[in-house]
Amino acid sequence: MIVSESVSRQIESASWIRRMFEEGIRMKKERGAENIFDFTLGNPTEDPPEDVKAALRNLVEENAPGTHSYMPNAGFPEVRRNLAETLKRDTGVPFTENHILMTVGCAGAMNTLLKAMLNPGDEVIVPMPCFPDYQFYIMNFSGKMIPVETDENFELDIAAIESKITSRTRAIILNSPNNPTGVIYPEALLHELEEVLQRADHPIAVISDEPYKSFVFDGAKCPETASIISNCIIATSWSKTWSIPGERIGYLAISPQLTEANALFQACTFTNRILGFINAPAIWQLATAKAPDALPDLAIYKEKRDLLCDGLSRSGYEVRKPQGAFYLFLKTPIPDDMEFTKILQNEGVLAVPGKGFGRSGYIRLSLTVSRDTVVRSLPFFARAIKKSKV
Ligand SMILES: Cc1ncc(COP(=O)(O)O)c(C=O)c1O
Repeated sequence: MIVSESVSRQIESASWIRRMFEEGIRMKKERGAENIFDFTLGNPTEDPPEDVKAALRNLVEENAPGTHSYMPNAGFPEVRRNLAETLKRDTGVPFTENHILMTVGCAGAMNTLLKAMLNPGDEVIVPMPCFPDYQFYIMNFSGKMIPVETDENFELDIAAIESKITSRTRAIILNSPNNPTGVIYPEALLHELEEVLQRADHPIAVISDEPYKSFVFDGAKCPETASIISNCIIATSWSKTWSIPGERIGYLAISPQLTEANALFQACTFTNRILGFINAPAIWQLATAKAPDALPDLAIYKEKRDLLCDGLSRSGYEVRKPQGAFYLFLKTPIPDDMEFTKILQNEGVLAVPGKGFGRSGYIRLSLTVSRDTVVRSLPFFARAIKKSKV
């Protein structure tokens, strides 16, 4: 077989979301696109912010010397300087350009970092449910993912995390606001975690995966993990904030308070190169510096969240409104989420079973669909809950 056994196994277990997405394409052909309500992928359909489009147009127009050249593997120094200033302002932590590394999206950031950090067999603790690709990123570098359940409200269980720390623990991945649950981890829990990490007998890093940082609702504020956790490394991207996931631009920010921050920055600069990324896309690096304050239109997402949550509540679903990110992690009216996903599918509604994120009894619905899709889907959700109870 030309494909390795491990990759064949990974493909088999990784195909949840994509399988539903492909099923959607088939069903749209069969039943007509207007009759299929596809809530599977977190692929923003809103237009990128105006400032971002203008910045890109200007950069192409100006075509300044070096715009399309190689630059230091960590990225353009002036772009990194700008970002460091913003992070210093927001976190109070003295970031400089030598703590910032521009990456190929957030996935590129995490792979670059894990390659630099992990020895074979090293352990990375991940609160569950989680973004399903973490396990593969960790396996890429022969690490071992150690899942830890969150509580019934999907909050961090600090005692459970502490109980999983061993001499092989190198990192903990935190994702707040969370995909799939929409939970924002409160400051108090982050302080508790910091105390646990300070007690550990070796340095353990927190990888703060923050691509949904700007997606917060009802006046909530997402705490700055780097302000609280000393050994923090931020991994993030503009994929969701600017609706540009296909463009692949993100960064790593290594806290200057981290033990051996400089060695890790040098290592990541090297791993970014040898993983074949070389550097993050040049024109997008420059665009981030030209439109530093561009944000998503949260009102659009909030309206869709409220329409969906209120409509589902009226039909008898038990709904917990997400505080942030753009997913609803919905409790299924029957315990078997696979079965309920099938019932929904028969009604033309596509969702991802919670099992794919490591928590059965739930489905994930993405709010990146149009408002019209949300409104027209509600009667079909109502029929599905009735059918599940007969
Ligand atoms: C929690 C989380 N982390 C990382 C990523 C990867 O982001 P990017 O597309 O910027 O690589 C995603 C994408 O959906 C995500 O949901």
